[in-house]
Amino acid sequence: MRLPALPFVLLAAALGACATMRSTADSPDAALDLHSHARPHEVRVTHVALDLELDFERKEARGSAYLEFERLDPRAALVLDAQNLAIERVTGHGEEPRRFTLSSEDPLLGAALAIELEPADRAVRVHYRTRPDALALQWLDPAQTLGKRHPFLLSQGQSILTRTWIPLQDSPSVRVTYEARIRCPAGLRPLMSAESSAFAADQTWRFRQSKPIPSYLIALACGELEFRALSERCGVWAEPALVEACAREFEDTEAMVAAAERLFGPYRWGRYDLLVLPPSFPFGGMENPCMTFATPTIVAGDKSLVALVAHELAHSWSGNLVTNATWRDFWLNEGFTVYCENRIMEAVYGPQRALLERELARAELEREMAELEPWQHVLHCELDGRGPDDAFTSVPYEKGALFLRRVEELVGRTAFDAWMLGWFERHAFTSVTTDEMLADLDARLLAMHPAARAALDLRAWIDGTGLPSDAPRSDSPLLRVVDREVERWKGGAAARALDTQGWVTGQWLRFLLGACPGASAARLRELDATFAFTHSGNREIQFQWLELCVKAGERELVEGELSAFLLTIGRRKFLKPLYAALAVRPEDLAWAREIYARARSGYHSVSVGTVDELLGWKP
Ligand code: BES
Ligand code: ZN
Repeated sequence: MRLPALPFVLLAAALGACATMRSTADSPDAALDLHSHARPHEVRVTHVALDLELDFERKEARGSAYLEFERLDPRAALVLDAQNLAIERVTGHGEEPRRFTLSSEDPLLGAALAIELEPADRAVRVHYRTRPDALALQWLDPAQTLGKRHPFLLSQGQSILTRTWIPLQDSPSVRVTYEARIRCPAGLRPLMSAESSAFAADQTWRFRQSKPIPSYLIALACGELEFRALSERCGVWAEPALVEACAREFEDTEAMVAAAERLFGPYRWGRYDLLVLPPSFPFGGMENPCMTFATPTIVAGDKSLVALVAHELAHSWSGNLVTNATWRDFWLNEGFTVYCENRIMEAVYGPQRALLERELARAELEREMAELEPWQHVLHCELDGRGPDDAFTSVPYEKGALFLRRVEELVGRTAFDAWMLGWFERHAFTSVTTDEMLADLDARLLAMHPAARAALDLRAWIDGTGLPSDAPRSDSPLLRVVDREVERWKGGAAARALDTQGWVTGQWLRFLLGACPGASAARLRELDATFAFTHSGNREIQFQWLELCVKAGERELVEGELSAFLLTIGRRKFLKPLYAALAVRPEDLAWAREIYARARSGYHSVSVGTVDELLGWKP
């Protein structure tokens, strides 16, 4: 049951008094978003127009957000999410000032910005500035870029950080089109998750996203950036020194888009470009529409880590076209995407590589699940009193994907593919809940396959802990080869006697996980002398090796490279295991704290939050 609209004063008082997290107990509505103050059932924002100036000196974006909305309840106020923003004034119809109140800040959700509307209002303009410590934004000094000459700015909105740089209804159930005017200093090029104009007068660049998207996909980056075309509709942006290497690494992007279109239906976003960011970017990739943001740590020189591109591209269907309605439904974004990613990899690079990547992922899922709390095993997870980030594990990704694989296995690929294509078509540009997905799956696929329907224990998959016993297994011949060499190594064979001819990255990763735990310092040295893992140019291999050495109590073996790694790379997936391993032994912890004291200011808030907790760091 929805709460009735309150008169503005009462609403403002209520929001002010309890800027705390909502609970599902407030409403039986499955689509209630616990992580937003917004009341889109009363007033729903439909379009956002940003007008911002980027001030790198003060590390602030200032200007205004013009919000158009539909008034479902004509008496209701417009309630926005705003976190750590300096709200200067709000105007309505005729640029007349409007009354507003800003509630106290909840540490996780930020404040509710309630705006009193007049009858004629169909839009408001919020004049505001961001704060230098806005959680979504990372303002990099020139020293943190490759070129070293210009500063850099990047945003990361998912899951609930867009409200720290734009006041809006920050819920994935609310979709908006957007446009933007961005002013920045000369020499810099802003980019957004939108179509961009080719020409900028007066360093003012214009953007337009004409498809309705959830707020977490509004993204901005700005720096010294250069472009290389990869095909008619695909290209890559990066700092000048890296752009050629990126163009080579990602030369298969068009083939991936074409494969994805064959599988999932037309690509609906116009261009598909990649933006390769400085190494402090906290994620591997982020599926910002039209413009995937990516870490430079996937530029390995041999295209071995491009599954990440397949993943972010797949989000153009699963996530961006059909979006999780709340963060409890996050697995709908990521589980579908991991499944689709692997189908793209299979289409472009063949079944052997896809199979190998699936088996490695499943092994990782099982390793991680053993350390998670039971609630974190659940696909449709309970987030009452928790932030979306608490559920960020490989469960929504890999268990989600295994669920879809299982359905595919039961009904056959032809039927499954037809359903999936129809799923994206039927729900294009909408936000959906887990229940809606299950209803569609049942009515449009399982109803026609009674044996599959009977065999599938949906509740175990969606609401259960652990991995259901019917989770599909993968048996990769390429990994069996590695496992044999691991056995020989463990049996005492010398490193240089191992047959590692032609191994691909995934095989090396498997080898490290099998060979290192339990090995003596001397044997780790022997491995490194033979295979030079410490200096590997492949960041996944290097990371795995560094972590294993620390875990083995042999930090000193890799100290130089490890500190360089921690001081330049801000990708949380790497930092978390490395700092966690370092936190085990007191002497490693002391060393890690020294490194972190120097590295911390160069990490994005997303990584800082995680590492602070691991090291018991008091800012
Ligand atoms: N959308 C995610 C990143 C994300 C999820 C950011 C939740 C914030 C909150 C993105 O698509 C992703 O999954 N990235 C992965 C790479 C992928 C290949 C598994 C990453 O960054 O590691
Ligand atoms: Zn993803």
